Amino acid sequence: MSLLSMLKGKGPSGFGYGSTAEEVTEGLDLSGKTYLVTGCNSGLGLETMRVLSLRGAHVIAAARTAEKAANAIAQVSANATPVACELSDPASVRACVENVKQTGRTLDAMICNAGIMALPKLETSHGYELQFFTNHVGHFILVTSLLDQLAEDGRVVIVSSAAHLQAPKETIEFDNLDGSKRYNSWRNYGQSKMANILFARHLSKKFEGTQRTANALHPGVIQTNLGRHMGGFVKMLLGVVSPLFLKSIPQGAATQCYVATHPSLADVSGEYFADCNIKKTRKDAKNDEIAEKLWAKSEEIIANV
Ligand SMILES: NC(=O)c1ccc[n+]([C@@H]2O[C@H](COP(=O)([O-])OP(=O)(O)OC[C@H]3O[C@@H](n4cnc5c(N)ncnc54)[C@H](OP(=O)(O)O)[C@@H]3O)[C@@H](O)[C@H]2O)c1
Repeated sequence: MSLLSMLKGKGPSGFGYGSTAEEVTEGLDLSGKTYLVTGCNSGLGLETMRVLSLRGAHVIAAARTAEKAANAIAQVSANATPVACELSDPASVRACVENVKQTGRTLDAMICNAGIMALPKLETSHGYELQFFTNHVGHFILVTSLLDQLAEDGRVVIVSSAAHLQAPKETIEFDNLDGSKRYNSWRNYGQSKMANILFARHLSKKFEGTQRTANALHPGVIQTNLGRHMGGFVKMLLGVVSPLFLKSIPQGAATQCYVATHPSLADVSGEYFADCNIKKTRKDAKNDEIAEKLWAKSEEIIANV
């Protein structure tokens, strides 16, 4: 247990920084329920799949390739169906949508967990900066194409990050979505994570009057493969401080498991969570005008890719 886990207490939900995915789902019987989890083969996604399955759920486990998904399922002995979903490739995401539809399963939640962080150099897909395209656009296609399959009381859970605080001052640089005017690895990661929150927020507006919910969250800071693009020194430093100051993977997966499953959140929508409690975002992450503009832009993008 890290030092911070010992020092930080629990919040109003009864859970907190140190809670694990197993703890927040303890006593829940998820048998008969189905959860779609992206990025199931590594870090927080793998632990999320393991714990949801442990509680009796069926997981539709998405990874870049079906082989990666199948290996991950075997690794944690999950009750799951593997699907390929390369989020930076709209054709792959759309094929995934068809595969999910073919399972005939109603989705109790979609957990948009996969992501990439801090790419050192500008990379693009279909003319859009790759972190924005992977972390936001790929999930936008997946979620909006599967809404017919979401349960009447289904939940959309978008794994964002406190890194949304580093998004550009314009919130989303609509005039620079290809990154050609300026690119900064962390600012652009922040923009993609800001887009995650705005997406959940606008989706929650669309869900008004229904039992469905959409929320975003920050999982904490956890040493996973996400840091693969960080320099050797930063990685080494993280390795040293990790046991003291960072969350473990079971703690990191807690907030998304909590938001996706906990009965107390049946009516909670349009919020941002961290440490299994509602937290404040940067002010502009609550700007409904920008959220609506991003939705319209995302629709325009996906109509052309
Ligand atoms: N770890 C942290 O400290 C932290 C902090 C804040 C937010 N988050 C967020 O938490 C989420 C999970 O991250 P993690 O820490 O568990 O990282 P991770 O271990 O690197 O897992 C990320 C997952 O996303 C998948 N992925 C990456 N690019 C993809 C693509 N183009 N198409 C489909 N899948 C793709 C990865 O697949 P491959 O293995 O095949 O690359 C992997 O399964 C991310 O959204 C991240 O932004 C993490």
